[in-house]
Amino acid sequence: MLKLPHNEVIPVLDFGSQYAQLIARRVREAGAFSVLVRPDITIEQLAEYNPKGLILSGGPASVYDEGAPRCDERLFELGVPVLGICYGMQVACQILGCEIKPAASREYGRAQIDVADSSDLLAGIPEHTTVWMSHGDQVAAVADELHVLASTPTCPFAAVRHAQRPFYGVQFHPEVTHTPHGIDLLHNFLYNVCRCTNTWRMTDFMQMQVERVREQVGDKHVICGLSGGVDSSVVAALLSKAIGKQLTCIFVDNGLLRKNERQLVETTFRDHFDIDLRVVDAAKDFLSDLAGITDPQEKRTRIGHRFIEVFKQAADDITDAEYLAQGTLYPDVIESGHGYSGAAANIKLHHNVGGLPEELGFKLIEPLRDLFKDEVRKLGEVLGLPENLVWRHPFPGPGLAVRVTGEITEGRLNILRDADEIVLEELTANHLYRSTSQVFAVLLAGVQSVGVMGDGRTYEHVCAIRAVETQDFMTADWARIPYDVLATMSNRIINEVRGINRVVYDISSKPPATIEWE
Ligand code: XMP
Repeated sequence: MLKLPHNEVIPVLDFGSQYAQLIARRVREAGAFSVLVRPDITIEQLAEYNPKGLILSGGPASVYDEGAPRCDERLFELGVPVLGICYGMQVACQILGCEIKPAASREYGRAQIDVADSSDLLAGIPEHTTVWMSHGDQVAAVADELHVLASTPTCPFAAVRHAQRPFYGVQFHPEVTHTPHGIDLLHNFLYNVCRCTNTWRMTDFMQMQVERVREQVGDKHVICGLSGGVDSSVVAALLSKAIGKQLTCIFVDNGLLRKNERQLVETTFRDHFDIDLRVVDAAKDFLSDLAGITDPQEKRTRIGHRFIEVFKQAADDITDAEYLAQGTLYPDVIESGHGYSGAAANIKLHHNVGGLPEELGFKLIEPLRDLFKDEVRKLGEVLGLPENLVWRHPFPGPGLAVRVTGEITEGRLNILRDADEIVLEELTANHLYRSTSQVFAVLLAGVQSVGVMGDGRTYEHVCAIRAVETQDFMTADWARIPYDVLATMSNRIINEVRGINRVVYDISSKPPATIEWE
């Protein structure tokens, strides 16, 4: 069991809501530590967290469904405040002897609540305010013990407090942004009800994970695949702090990296963090696998296979390694369809570094599983990673191979590297790197166009600049980079990069386009 360096923990029992992790994240933002736990955790296990309070998340089931997730009925014996949200409220109310019934109509979307009592949970919240509802059942006939804090015309028990137990329930979702005062409600729960003192910081998470990794690993050796991206870099820095020389990082140079990328990784991890870093130069193998290949999926498949082979070989050389550290994030966990109420996470083949297969035979260490991307960046800062690594835009595993349309050759990759470097230099110089989500150059290698340079005619490649803004990379809009910045990028590329005589700007959003061109 987790040893926590402080005692302000609010475990969230995950009943399968898509928002469960968001609740934990909101609690952390508000200054108390929170983790998701299985809904059927026993109170003895919960007691080991020394919790200041508990939150029961929502969930898609009806309490009357067969197999609907339940929690330890002795929950209230812990004596700490409990906040039940939606399904979590219904489960708790059922334990407390109330009746749950299907609502007259399923409520989904925004609703207005009327606040009747703003003395504790709803302190400072306006008398009439919007909340986000998503439920089919609701608390119906109530034993006298439930005191109504807020209601809507169709949901008489929208927010309640129990008369004897330290229990609060809300039928709506305070964790989502559609509930404008939801954060205030969670804040009230933490500070007015649970009496937290606002001491949790990202350094605490770091310390906790350091101790956890040490405990898990003992004197064994750990391998970490470094990709140069934020997630694997943060994992490497964290593990280095925890176990020092028991960690070996493997960085595969596949010949498809951006300019100076390998050097950045080497200086950061070998020189700055003093990590045992093995750089495998496999560019030749990757490029020969890609020779003559133009189909994007075929490129990906070949790169994926070669990566596994190269990584396996490098890992085999580290004879006593028992663990593999991976930078799986919470969004990876949900996207692969495994919440905490289910089994362990699958690795997302498409997006994780290499998507290393199970037959490698390692036990996994995934210290970022509870975090969202921006929290990982904060952790990276706390660990002392340089800003240009912490705030890096994502870069696809197959690298520049999916940014050279058509056949990959060494020459084309070099042209693209030079153009891409100019794009990133100008973006940074104009302070646009942090406000954009992903920006890069693409070489339209199959497309040549006519130009004129000096007195001569040219017939060279077209380069596209792709710049997007997005929250989740599932949908994205093209970034409105100022014309004069685009003009400088274009001028510099055409003048400085041999082989490109035309630059175009990609103004497609996703969907229907994707972020990468291939
Ligand atoms: P798309 O092009 O699908 O990209 O809109 C969404 C995000 O995923 C990245 N991406 C990849 N990452 N392997 C990866 O590791 C891939 O094959 C891959 N394809 C796209 C892309 O850079 C963007 O951030």
